[in-house]
Amino acid sequence: MSDSAYAVRPGPAAGAAPRIPRSLSAPTPGWTTTADVIVVGSGIAGLTCALRLRERVDRVLLVTKTVLDEGSTAWAQGGIAAALDPEDSPAEHLEDTIVAGVGLCDRDAVEALVTEGPKRVRQLVALGAEFDRDADGEIKLTREGGHHRDRIAHAGGDATGREISRALIAALDRVRDDPGIEVVEHALVVDLLSDETGADPSRVTGVTLHVIGEGQLDGVGAAYARAVVLATGGLGQIYTSTTNPPVATGDGMAAAMRAGARITDLEFIQFHPTVLFLGEGSTGQQPLISEAVRGEGAFLVDAAGNRFMQGRHELADLAPRDVVARAILDTMRDQGVDHVFLDARHLGAEFLEERFPSIVASCRSLGFDPATDLLPVAPAQHYASGGIETDLLGRSSLPGLYACGECSCTGVHGANRLASNSLLEGLVFANRIADDIPARIAAGELADPVVPAHPDRAGGDAQGDHALLDSSQRLTVQRAMTAGSGPVRSAESTAATAAALAELAALPPAKADPGPKTWETTNLLHLGQALTELAARREETRGGHVRSDFPDRDDARWLVRQSATVAPDRSLTVTERSMP
Ligand code: SIN
Repeated sequence: MSDSAYAVRPGPAAGAAPRIPRSLSAPTPGWTTTADVIVVGSGIAGLTCALRLRERVDRVLLVTKTVLDEGSTAWAQGGIAAALDPEDSPAEHLEDTIVAGVGLCDRDAVEALVTEGPKRVRQLVALGAEFDRDADGEIKLTREGGHHRDRIAHAGGDATGREISRALIAALDRVRDDPGIEVVEHALVVDLLSDETGADPSRVTGVTLHVIGEGQLDGVGAAYARAVVLATGGLGQIYTSTTNPPVATGDGMAAAMRAGARITDLEFIQFHPTVLFLGEGSTGQQPLISEAVRGEGAFLVDAAGNRFMQGRHELADLAPRDVVARAILDTMRDQGVDHVFLDARHLGAEFLEERFPSIVASCRSLGFDPATDLLPVAPAQHYASGGIETDLLGRSSLPGLYACGECSCTGVHGANRLASNSLLEGLVFANRIADDIPARIAAGELADPVVPAHPDRAGGDAQGDHALLDSSQRLTVQRAMTAGSGPVRSAESTAATAAALAELAALPPAKADPGPKTWETTNLLHLGQALTELAARREETRGGHVRSDFPDRDDARWLVRQSATVAPDRSLTVTERSMP
């Protein structure tokens, strides 16, 4: 999308607009490596992209923060949505996706998702992913919130992501000896490198990486490439409770934002309605009770046993996720309680154990038996619908930088992602990127980057403007975000959060201990500042953005998408683009 489509509109900001450093404080890179393409992240998007690129370019460097299967993909329970049933159609899948996105989906991106989706899922099956099948050998399909048809393919009952991750890693293992692909685990991307002395200083030419390794690749280094693909996942750890694993600290999104990439729709955070409630003090990753449990007939009740979703929406307990989460929050507020209940008892032990083995085991290990107990549930952070803005080919606003998966914002999700569209989005757009990069290399568009003899640190102002927040402050960031920019927001709450984050940003960086935990915490701070700014400006309630002071949707003013961009002087600029 060209810059001219965006209008800078000074809006009601959450206090003074934040200033965000252009890079993190980090040691000067001690080693250098090169590749044609660097892919960062090893979920469905990163692995798919790296595997396909390996067949088409000479050298792919795949880096991942911990080990290959530790990201969010492996935690996905429900499944992957695609119009695989002959009775279903991409047009119906498109309609459900657009309704869930509450007016802000990019129709062309959704069109690409739903039309290419079935083919990409079949390719995943050909690669070795084993989905659950019926007696006739057909892939079993189930239903989740917002879908008007059974179109969710699942594996191992409720272990879909784990099976997809297994199949992709097995495919990678089969080519591990190929010199065309190098895999580096325990490699945290610190920042992006840009072509500062070249013709286009905004062009991304690589990444700085911190590797916990041995020998040549150890400590901070610089990796250069013709193109960088970020597939680094979400930012769930920005809140006190989330379904995301501990690695979800928004590293790629934050690095792209500091480098000047356009970050869009960041205010739309999806809170999953049914996360097992383990008590107020329980922080970090919480157990998800898949929407597919409601898809099979479970329902929500309050403490008195009332089915409060009935009459609220035509799909009742299977309404889109934002509608259900909001109904739970309203019930909790009205009744002065901190959770409601999910009733799956009528489904019976035998069915539950067979259909949801991981969920049943996880609940039982925590003292709840879904076959006999009401399950206490409350909404918790689950998915970032926004991120690094891309076009239909996965290109970001910075030359040479691509993004796919949860860290990206293709426009597919709008204000609220439809259930089980995320694995599909990662799959479809990773393939699009893997088509685009080789075509551009062949057309001479992505030249080899200039590799400096002595790489400097990324961004060039690493000492400036307090670029580090010590890891001991992580809970303070999480609490501030949950209190003011969490499931329910207001002008007052976002202003308080902005002030708390500004205070943290002003702490002397010398007090921070540089290293992965501190870089992650700083990433959470920077994304929290941008998210809070966008949440303060959007004076309406829509999708994953709920304002107690503006409880209604306002199409006259807010049928726009907001983007945050960090300028070279570190100021955060917010732009708006009207929906067609
Ligand atoms: C779930 O299983 O409820 C989560 C699926 C998703 O987030 O798409």
